[in-house]
Amino acid sequence: MNAPIGVIDSGVGGLTVAKAIMELLPEEQIYYIGDNARCPYGPRPLKQVRVYTWQMAEALVEKNIKLLVIACNTATAAALDFLQRQLPIPVIGVISPGARAAVNASATNEIAVLGTLGTVKSGAYEQAIKSLVSSAHVVQLACPRFVPLVESGEYKGDFAKRLVEETLSQLETKSFDTAILGCTHYPLLQGFIEEALGPNVHVLSSAEETAKEVQERLTFKRNLAERKNRPEHRFYTTGSTVIFKEIIQEWLGIEQPLIEPIRFQEEL
Ligand code: DGL
Repeated sequence: MNAPIGVIDSGVGGLTVAKAIMELLPEEQIYYIGDNARCPYGPRPLKQVRVYTWQMAEALVEKNIKLLVIACNTATAAALDFLQRQLPIPVIGVISPGARAAVNASATNEIAVLGTLGTVKSGAYEQAIKSLVSSAHVVQLACPRFVPLVESGEYKGDFAKRLVEETLSQLETKSFDTAILGCTHYPLLQGFIEEALGPNVHVLSSAEETAKEVQERLTFKRNLAERKNRPEHRFYTTGSTVIFKEIIQEWLGIEQPLIEPIRFQEEL
């Protein structure tokens, strides 16, 4: 019951999902892995992303997590089915929740998906959205410069604003009323994305809907945590702890996060 929930991402992006889980389920403890050293996953072959995702999942299963959230769209596209088949615990991805959130928010069923190259090429969002509303019209845009920008910690200044404007100008001629942030790093750029797309577009992420799915799954399994004190979350990174720590402090409001390095063997 009080075993931790595992959350994995290629880097800091999954913290946006971890935050939504912490807000909805404050009694749950989270073990988070960011594979910052091998980030970005977006341009890598899906087969390689599957191996990396498996390595993170395996490391957390060894730490006795009760449920795993793949808080990375690229890794969800590459490895969700595989992990669900291989692991003895429930595994939740972010693409179905993101698709649900987008369909619920859209009045016109014209939806833009902003994601990494890997996610866009996989077509997983389009498939998930159309499985909910077959007549939906989906426009996809890969934004490969966004993840390195967020990982560098430079996601707040004028440079970030200009880069977002320039990238999203490619959507100028497209019609949509909802844009789903199909990469968990993008909520850190949400303000600039909203400005660039204008007031008529509803911009949302999959974080809250994913947190709801975690809640439903644990409720169904009667496996929600019950504790008196706030749990102490643990964060593992394959990369430098400096920016990782700053983003945890700022985004999650944890002043002294417990951060440990973790290493994986390079298999490919
Ligand atoms: N947060 C990951 C995602 O949602 C970023 C992938 C990457 O590392 O390129 O897709």
